[in-house]
Order: sequence, then C-alpha cells, then structure tokens
Amino acid sequence: MIGVFDSGVGGLTVVKEIKKAMPDCSIVYFGDTARYPWGNKNAETVQRYSEEICIFLIAQGVEDIVIACNTASTFAGDYLRKKFPKINFFNVIDPVVDRIKLELSAEKNQKRNIRAGVIGTRGTIESRVYEKKIKKNNPTVGIISQACPLFVSMVEENMTSHPAAKIIVDEYLKKIKKAKVDFLVLGCTHYPLLEKVIRKSIGNVAMISSAKEVAKELLRRKNIREDFKEKDIFYFSDVSNHYDKLTRKILGKKIKIIKKAL
Ligand code: DGL
Repeated sequence: MIGVFDSGVGGLTVVKEIKKAMPDCSIVYFGDTARYPWGNKNAETVQRYSEEICIFLIAQGVEDIVIACNTASTFAGDYLRKKFPKINFFNVIDPVVDRIKLELSAEKNQKRNIRAGVIGTRGTIESRVYEKKIKKNNPTVGIISQACPLFVSMVEENMTSHPAAKIIVDEYLKKIKKAKVDFLVLGCTHYPLLEKVIRKSIGNVAMISSAKEVAKELLRRKNIREDFKEKDIFYFSDVSNHYDKLTRKILGKKIKIIKKAL
C-alpha cells in the first residue's frame, strides 16, 4: 500500500497518475479537508498536520508515502524524513525539477534565455523552493513566480468552470502572461484542475505539473513493494455532499469517502 496525502482533493491528481502508471497498486489517501488550505499557513503548522497524517497512514500499514502537496513538500519534507526514518517519502517538487533539468539540457545550444513561470501557494512561492532548485541546475533561467492563494479554494469548491474562475486566474497570471514564459510550473497539486482556465488565460504555454512526474518517479524507484492487492481507501478529515461529485470529476470514477478526523 502506498500512502498519499494532501490538504484536500489536490493530491487526487497525483493518485490518478499513480494508478495509470501502476494500476495494481493500492492507495491509502488522506485529504485534510477540515484544515485546508495549508498554503497560507506557517511551516510549523504544516509540519504538525503532516506528521499527524503520517502517523495515521503508517498505522494503516504503509511504508511508502507520497507527500502529494507542494506546500507540505516544501515545509515538511525534510522534517518527515527525520521523524520517520523507516518510511520512503516521495515529494512532488524534485521530480518536477528533474524533468525541467532534462528538458532544458535539450535546449542547451540555443542562445536565448529561457523564462519559466512558477505558480503555487503563498508558502511554496515565498519559500522560493522551485526558484532555488531550478536555478541550481540552470542558473541562466529567468523565473517569474506568482502566489495564487485563491486557486485552491476554487478547486475545493468545484468552481473551476465558473465565470469567476477566469477573472481570478487572469488577475493572478497577469505578470506571467506579460513575461511570455516558455513554460509554466503548476506548483500546487490542485492547479492541474484549473488547467483549462489557465490555458484560456495565458494561451498555449507548456505546463509541467507534479502528478505525472511523481508517478514516473515511483515506477523508477524499485523499492516499492509489488504486493498490491488491497482496495484503495480514501479518508477525508471533513466531508460535505459536494465531495462525491468533485472526487468523481477528478478521478473519473465514484469513490467511497471515509470521514476521519485526526
Ligand atoms: N495541494 C496543495 C499544494 O500542492 C495545496 C495547499 C493548500 O491547501 O493551500 O500546495
């Protein structure tokens, strides 16, 4: 069993890709819907929430945990590794940085300077984690970052097709659109659910997000056990009626949600 957690439904974008890459694997998911959003909270709070969730997931028998949240990967990745040394942790940032490194190495002979847009929660953007990691491999890349704090709530409220979504997305992405970036990093696992409206706003820019890259990373790492025969289980710390519809929209199938307060 692989444990996967996020502040809410965003981590399901990662679950979807893991299931595509490894259809037989079983997932125990925890969405902390009672305490989202995490993106505006400080490091200690995100560490505490993440630790509580990991204790729960480990009690369910998982040995591998995907931190399917950029904010938690930023603030709690190292913290969790130290707290739970026996667990294999996967974060959602490093596989994206590796993919960018690969893409840019193919561009090496080009003279022009590449510009990358990075969007994420306030915590992720203010930490400058993507900027530092991308620049470490590719110092000449220009990075234009933008925190988009309302995006997570739009997704959790299932408002990604609402006309208000376009207005909010346009507002947040002004600077990135003006910079004519070569690619855009969706640095929050909720954001792929806004991909359509983001595309409408900034046009046909290549977008890189965590879900596919993390799934590839899981496949690459051989130490994931293969005895996957159990059913997937989805725990949410708070449940309201609209989550049935929302989770079906994200995963393309109906799931049974179990309410579990920590
Ligand atoms: N999906 C989380 C992330 O990737 C969203 C954090 C939040 O709840 O604000 O950062």
